[in-house]
Amino acid sequence: MMKEQLEVIRQHALEAIAGTQATAELESVRVQYLGKKGELTAVLKQMGKLSPEERPIMGQKANEVRAELESAIETQSVILAEKAMAEKLKAEALDVTIPGKTVPQGHKHPMTMALDEIKDIFVGMGFTVLDGPEVELATYNFDRLNAEEGHPSRDWSDTFYFDEDSRVMLRSQTSPMQVRAMESMDLPIRIIAPGRVYRKDEVDATHSPMFHQIEGMVIDKGVTMSDLKGTLNTVIEQIYGKGTVTRFRPHHFPFTEPSCEMDIQCHKCGGKGCPTCKGEGWIEVLGAGMIHPDVLRMSGIDPEVYSGWAFGMGLERLAMGRFKIADLRLIFENDIRFLEQF
Ligand code: PHE
Repeated sequence: MMKEQLEVIRQHALEAIAGTQATAELESVRVQYLGKKGELTAVLKQMGKLSPEERPIMGQKANEVRAELESAIETQSVILAEKAMAEKLKAEALDVTIPGKTVPQGHKHPMTMALDEIKDIFVGMGFTVLDGPEVELATYNFDRLNAEEGHPSRDWSDTFYFDEDSRVMLRSQTSPMQVRAMESMDLPIRIIAPGRVYRKDEVDATHSPMFHQIEGMVIDKGVTMSDLKGTLNTVIEQIYGKGTVTRFRPHHFPFTEPSCEMDIQCHKCGGKGCPTCKGEGWIEVLGAGMIHPDVLRMSGIDPEVYSGWAFGMGLERLAMGRFKIADLRLIFENDIRFLEQF
């Protein structure tokens, strides 16, 4: 009777153990059969009712069943642990062959590109690049550039001043860098100085109260107007392409004598006249001239020994020509749809 009971328990337990899917389930099966209130334990508690002859035989049988179940549980627990690990590895698997997410990369602003290009050209010719203050003194912006009191560019309607006496302002040109270079550098001097300048202009397609200029200056013994023309023609050909036709028109600046403006023949129409050149056939690119002897003298340079030339070029206009940009405002709005085109 009891032997059969043990056999039934043994078989049910082995089936139950083999059918478990998880460690927790296996543990409850173990408790069900081998626990204090388990089925096998219950049978063993009935041993007392057996005859002395039967007792050792059943005892041995019961112990065999217990040992068999324990070893089956041990085996199953290893199987379940391996299965759990395999599932975990599968769930947490990393596919190292999936391509990475691309991070969108920005690039230089077209103004910076145009400036970098010019800097490269001048540095290649032995020029040093200078940086200077945008809040400037009248001394540098006007006085020592020969623009006396009453000069139209000193007017409050043109220039942003910080003080009643019109001595401190947002620089209206990069030309004060000529004076700062003469003051701080040893001769001979070959510099360019790019940067922001400010004028009280209304905003339209070609004007902005803040814009960029690049100043250039050479001072040495025996420097002449032909050096100015030769250097600027070389630079312009590198920017606008070989064979670009230029012309120099007489002009007036207080700090140069003689003064000129340089035009390039319109690259759109080849000089016939079109909307790009406003029907002129020519596009003005810069102002230049031989440094006025008084300007040299005011900075302690003897005009009998030294001479020099200087130029000032608008950078926006250059970038607009270079990248075929029709409206100046696009350059400052920083609309990503515009900037992405370069
Ligand atoms: N500073 C002048 C301007 O803003 C340009 C210039 C620079 C002219 C140097 C001659 C020499 O118009």
